[in-house]
Amino acid sequence: MEKIELRNNKTPHLLDIKTLGKEGIERIISAKRRENELNGGKVALLFFEDSTRTRLSFELAAKSLGCIVLSPNLHTSSIQKGETNLDTITTIAAMGVDQIVLRSSKSGFAAEAAQQLGKHCRILNAGDGTNQHPTQALTDLYILKNACPKNWSDMKVGITGNISHSRVANSLIDGLGLMGVNAIHLIGPQQWQPSAIPDIATPFENLEAGLADLDAIVVLRAQWERMKELPRQQITALQHEFRLEAKHVRLMNDGAIVMHPGPVLRDEEIDASILQHPYIKINDQVAAGVIIRERILAQNYS
Ligand code: CP
Repeated sequence: MEKIELRNNKTPHLLDIKTLGKEGIERIISAKRRENELNGGKVALLFFEDSTRTRLSFELAAKSLGCIVLSPNLHTSSIQKGETNLDTITTIAAMGVDQIVLRSSKSGFAAEAAQQLGKHCRILNAGDGTNQHPTQALTDLYILKNACPKNWSDMKVGITGNISHSRVANSLIDGLGLMGVNAIHLIGPQQWQPSAIPDIATPFENLEAGLADLDAIVVLRAQWERMKELPRQQITALQHEFRLEAKHVRLMNDGAIVMHPGPVLRDEEIDASILQHPYIKINDQVAAGVIIRERILAQNYS
């Protein structure tokens, strides 16, 4: 299928958090008010992998900005007749859509789509495989900036659980590094540690040791859909050694917060009895997700 000349948008695709740089992140997470409306802007939400938070918050954000939103059910699309995902994206872009919000289980698929469409339709990566989830990282940075009274360079942030399969962890580590955080604790079993540990991070294979002196912990679920080779029982057993409970939160600094990108698997990575505690910021993250995605969509026209 040939590339089709569409509208010539100026704003770069959002494929990863590094695309924004420190100033870009600061602008997005510090903006005080909505800068513009996108009346008549056309946004398509193409989710080739399941989602609740990202999909609906992008939809709400785009509609609040005055956009026309296409949110097709891809299980009833011509993909079922054999059309490729990339050809589906090109087809929807050819209808005059300005921005495509894209989720895929294939790492690097957002970059492939951006390569296919060029500058004519902006791709916003809403999570691609184990690679990147930039708007989740922006949301998490927004929460940290607003809930943690320290400067970025003094902040200590932990990430616990199935880090090696997590695009949330990858993009958050990149984002924290860009903002100047230089102490990240990666807490999980050896099998779930990243293959390369960034300079600013320290691996911990013991939950209690890793939590000491932290200002925030980001809890990740076991992404069992990306570990099909392992029996579910084995995944659950690994996870239970790192399940966050009230006694663990007490090991962190006073005022420390607990974050989770969702979906939460109750009593697997986190004790359900602590979910209503004020130090839990999960619903704040969800609410912030709408604000951040509005700003990202509107950035196209700033
Ligand atoms: N955090 C996150 O990406 O959640 P969803 O899969 O529900 O979008």
